[in-house]
Amino acid sequence: MEKFIINQALDMHLHLRDDDMLKLVAHMTSNGFCGALIMPNILPPITTKKDLLSYKKRIKEACKDDKFEPFMTVFFQVDYSYEFLEDIKDEIIAVKLYPFGVTTNSQTGVSSMDVEVLRPTLESMSKLGIPLCVHGETKGFVMDREKEFLPIYESLAINFPKLKIIMEHISSKESISLLEKYDNLYATITVHHLMLTLDDVAGGMLNPHIFCKPIVKRPEDREALLKLALNAHPKVMFGSDSAPHQKNTKECHHGAAGIFSSPILLQVLTQLFEKNGKLDNLNAFISLNAQKIYDLKPLGKEVVLVKKDFIVPKEYSYRNEKVVPLFEGQTLSWSIDKIIQEKTK
Ligand code: DOR
Ligand code: ZN
Repeated sequence: MEKFIINQALDMHLHLRDDDMLKLVAHMTSNGFCGALIMPNILPPITTKKDLLSYKKRIKEACKDDKFEPFMTVFFQVDYSYEFLEDIKDEIIAVKLYPFGVTTNSQTGVSSMDVEVLRPTLESMSKLGIPLCVHGETKGFVMDREKEFLPIYESLAINFPKLKIIMEHISSKESISLLEKYDNLYATITVHHLMLTLDDVAGGMLNPHIFCKPIVKRPEDREALLKLALNAHPKVMFGSDSAPHQKNTKECHHGAAGIFSSPILLQVLTQLFEKNGKLDNLNAFISLNAQKIYDLKPLGKEVVLVKKDFIVPKEYSYRNEKVVPLFEGQTLSWSIDKIIQEKTK
């Protein structure tokens, strides 16, 4: 196959940041994707309607594409009232919950995952039909944090059966059986958890650019996630978790967690699905599943990819911002040929 078309790509987990970094990275997603679920963990996190609308406006301006839809989220707070959630409902696609201190900018995350502490907010969300996205990690041993969080996911799924719960960026094989056990659990998967293991990060020379939370894990975890994605399991959506950080905050003592993948996602996914003989499932993984799970209206955009080498730039920059992308300097076998807007089906 020399040509492949991706229809209405959706990135259901994306960090766009703010200011110059937003200006640097936003169009890299809006270029090929027709929409993305935007994470609220900027500083300060998005917790009010006013901040949400103004952030959305800045995103729209930075995207240089009117047709791109930023699906907004707010940062979970235990004291959100029913009235607040009702008022903001039409502006958001979900609420994102971070446990305290588990990742970048989660200092104002929830300090207790006790169901009774979370109950008032989650009951309101459940009544209003607002999905919950969760960063599911404990503060335990780094390789086991997601596994240790699974009982929390389970109790949320049982206690709030009408609440759609999205297990964000699943990274370990144990998460898959839980996902399949409860109707109201869904998941996103990143490219990096499909392609990397801890060996790539620290098996040889340290590579800080692929350090992220949850950390990439064992080959058997990667294989199990890959199987799920390649088969476009209907409860699984693509969410890149592309999370740009300044180059010098990655290449330093106390380096930040986050992998910047947005400029290479479509090329890498096409290469990966082709290599595994599963290109027929890529549009479901990258768009259709999310449309069904989040009940989204189709948005028009087609990306035509061709079998042609694409050398990933070593870095991208804008004013003082510099970011290093995933697979920097490597050659991918697929390139974006053209993007067709507003293709109506
Ligand atoms: O590695 C990560 N980086 N994981 C997250 O959950 C957050 C993200 C970020 O915001 O940098
Ligand atoms: Zn994230």
